[in-house]
Amino acid sequence: MELTSVTRQYLQAVPMRCFNWDQLLEQIPGRSMMGQLSPSIQEAIMEASVHHPRAIQYPPPAAYKLQFLKYVVSQIVNQKPSAGEQEDHECIDTLLEEYMTSMSARSSSSTETCYRSYLISNDNSSCGQDTFSAQHNYITLEEQPQTISQGTTGLRTWPAALTLLAHLKIAPSEICGKRVLELGCGVGLVGIACALFGAAHVTLTDTAPSVLEAAERNCRTNGIHTLSNGVTLSTPPKPIANVVALDWETIANKELSDLVESVQADVIVASDVAYDPIIVPPLVRMLTAFVTRSVELGIQTVEALIATTRRSETTWQLFLSELQKSGLVYEFVDVVPDVNGCYYLDEGGRIDVMRVRAASNHKSNKAG
Ligand SMILES: C[S@@+](CC[C@H](N)C(=O)[O-])C[C@H]1O[C@@H](n2cnc3c(N)ncnc32)[C@H](O)[C@@H]1O
Repeated sequence: MELTSVTRQYLQAVPMRCFNWDQLLEQIPGRSMMGQLSPSIQEAIMEASVHHPRAIQYPPPAAYKLQFLKYVVSQIVNQKPSAGEQEDHECIDTLLEEYMTSMSARSSSSTETCYRSYLISNDNSSCGQDTFSAQHNYITLEEQPQTISQGTTGLRTWPAALTLLAHLKIAPSEICGKRVLELGCGVGLVGIACALFGAAHVTLTDTAPSVLEAAERNCRTNGIHTLSNGVTLSTPPKPIANVVALDWETIANKELSDLVESVQADVIVASDVAYDPIIVPPLVRMLTAFVTRSVELGIQTVEALIATTRRSETTWQLFLSELQKSGLVYEFVDVVPDVNGCYYLDEGGRIDVMRVRAASNHKSNKAG
């Protein structure tokens, strides 16, 4: 019995309150887990989760593993009295052993390295290039379990990134063969997906050193070659990325125009970066600098794909008005949820993906 939906949720550490057991329930007479987890079903759950090879190599947070095992054990232990026909079952040894070990390990280091793996899988997501192979069914990221860790929001993946990933998966031509810049990359899901889906080159940028280090490690975990800033190779390996420090609030004009020139981005991507009114104007300054490069050089339009979680109407309106003030236009992209891919968490706030570009009558700064 292969429980692929249990695997994709467990590897992504989907909270137990949201965990969808439908695929498992289809295997159980009466479709109720209470007391119905036969030894063979328990084995299948363990194989699909804790004993899955990717979970062994890249374990989800220890606290999550414990919650998961506790839930499964409770479904068996708290079974309803048998209604005669149905046989009650006990926990298999391997389940109990894993549960006990997890419980005794729970007080250990709070700085554990833990991972989440996102199913990107299965079909023709790349643009037919050899960069995307079976080994890339998942993007595995080193992440922190907490929302804010080490003073930054960047050490975990946010739902807007998953929405942008869903769009890129069905529309890889957005980035195929192109030079991509990611703003506020965090641990790197979107930028890494772009590299695996066939971008010619990806520059992932963020501000906090801990975030940049995690993004760099995550690129390597997923088989993406990273080059130090400024290094060029005559025959670069693929997929390829640079991880670069960029603080929208402090970068000087000259430094910014040098970066625009060196990155030569055809597409900008960003997810969950317009969440705080203080950073919205600097963020729009970045978008303007990169997007209007096309106007200045008279080349093919440079576009930005921005996924935004609308947590505050005021911040959202500020973002829209700053775009407008800067001579940028936007339209909304219809995103079809990737129901067989990674799991989507609803964490408060509608998520929109926007396509942003320079207005056709945009006057570049240089032109005055
Ligand atoms: C909510 S997290 C989103 C991370 C990632 N894009 C995602 O969707 O999972 C916001 C990201 O924006 C970055 N950020 C915030 N202010 C920034 C600034 N002034 N310059 C560059 N990056 C910034 C943070 O470091 C963080 O990685």
